[in-house]
Amino acid sequence: MNYSDNLNANKVFPVLSKTADQLGLECYVVGGWVRDLLLGRPSEDIDVVVVGSGIAMAEAFAKELGSGAYLAVFKNFGTAQVRKGKIDVEFVGARKESYHRESRKPIVENGTLADDQCRRDFSINAMAICLNASRYGELVDPFNGVEDLANGIIRTPLDPDITFSDDPLRMMRAVRFATRLGFTILSDTYEAIRRNVERMDIVSSERTAEELNKIMRTSNPSRGIMLMDGCGLLAKVLPEIDALKGVEKHNERAHKDIFTHTMRVLEGVANRSDDIWLRYAALFHDVGKPKTKQWDDNHGWIFYNHNFVGMKMLTPIFRRLHLPLGEELKLVKKLVELHMRPINLCDEGVTDSAIRRLLFDAGDDIDKLMILCESDITSANREKVERFANNYQLLRIKLKEIEEKDRIRNFQPPVDGLEIMQMFNIPPCAVVGELKNAVKDAILDGIIPNEHDAARNFVIANAAKYNLKPVDVSSDRIHIEK
Ligand code: CTP
Repeated sequence: MNYSDNLNANKVFPVLSKTADQLGLECYVVGGWVRDLLLGRPSEDIDVVVVGSGIAMAEAFAKELGSGAYLAVFKNFGTAQVRKGKIDVEFVGARKESYHRESRKPIVENGTLADDQCRRDFSINAMAICLNASRYGELVDPFNGVEDLANGIIRTPLDPDITFSDDPLRMMRAVRFATRLGFTILSDTYEAIRRNVERMDIVSSERTAEELNKIMRTSNPSRGIMLMDGCGLLAKVLPEIDALKGVEKHNERAHKDIFTHTMRVLEGVANRSDDIWLRYAALFHDVGKPKTKQWDDNHGWIFYNHNFVGMKMLTPIFRRLHLPLGEELKLVKKLVELHMRPINLCDEGVTDSAIRRLLFDAGDDIDKLMILCESDITSANREKVERFANNYQLLRIKLKEIEEKDRIRNFQPPVDGLEIMQMFNIPPCAVVGELKNAVKDAILDGIIPNEHDAARNFVIANAAKYNLKPVDVSSDRIHIEK
């Protein structure tokens, strides 16, 4: 099969072809672009391998593209990148690589196309298509990548122990590609991951997290986590999730396997949302359970406060994995902390005040919380699942009604600290905070409406407890702009 028509569909390739022939360099498009072409999912990122100097080829190609082309040369790596508008092409000279045990940085020598293909991670990523006019569109596939693509197989071109030991990040990549493409990791390759898992120690946590994020973004992240589990990567990268596995019994009464449950919750959430941080919340929602597990003679297995304990575990986990510590972590913490709340609000007799408090605590993330909680029902008992689903539907209706009535979601107390200080002419102090909280509670409990005058009168009435009287507004202590 010749792929010249596919190449010609992208105007970059004829230019690359002409440039390579002018320089007399053998030149190929390689790796992900070829794989994605054969999978029918064309990509914009093009990797070009040149038998000779990748940098010389990049310089000539940038010249050929003319004004507006941007060239970046990475001399130390022998690579270069050319960008212009949507065009993004990376160049590398064909190379042989050998590795030290302590490092992912290879010792590089010039090589042939075949050498270059051997050093790549998987057969499906080692295919190349020639760009020179004489062989334009010819596929070079020494490891039967086409067959592996057709059969849905991830396999390394060389002995997997060598491929993974050379660059252990490839173990995470194997799981990522298998998850994203719905492929199987060949058993030899999978077994080699188990043998080389300790080599993950030389991979930076940023790179590991990048792969984990890519797995979490696929349509089936729970499969990725289970694949990581099956070869020992889970224990290495996410020991806290690995610790969810297993079942303990007391007087023949077992609790459910928290890992299996977590995978089902993650699957449920992933089916309903692309939000990667909501997916992380699903992954971590029960992470506090192993630490809080207890047998109670009256209630059976209990996990008292596991949501708080789990929430507290998240900062160290995110820090270790170099996941973002800002808004993203805040969201995951909030969802893990609150994930037990909605279920307790499904009762007939639940008060508006309890619902207002949930709306206040969840704020704009209430829908994400509901998705997490609805996915958290994984019982084998159909009747129970249906009952919970109905209850959650009723709760959603109540949440909507109360939000429309009381506007709690983005609630800002109608009287703030500054106004309280001015009202009583007092400096910042604990009393200001206490008065502010009292206003918030009064509104959430439905004692006063969510309005400025009502809140102000409430503050004045409460301030009497602290012997505070409002200052006379006409007093000259209040500066009025003229
Ligand atoms: N590669 C490799 N080992 C790695 C990383 C990359 O052998 N640890 C090779 C593979 O041939 C891969 C190519 O470099 O196809 C480009 O890598 P990259 O851009 O990271 O991935 P893609 O395969 O292009 O896939 P995607 O863009 O979907 O991540």
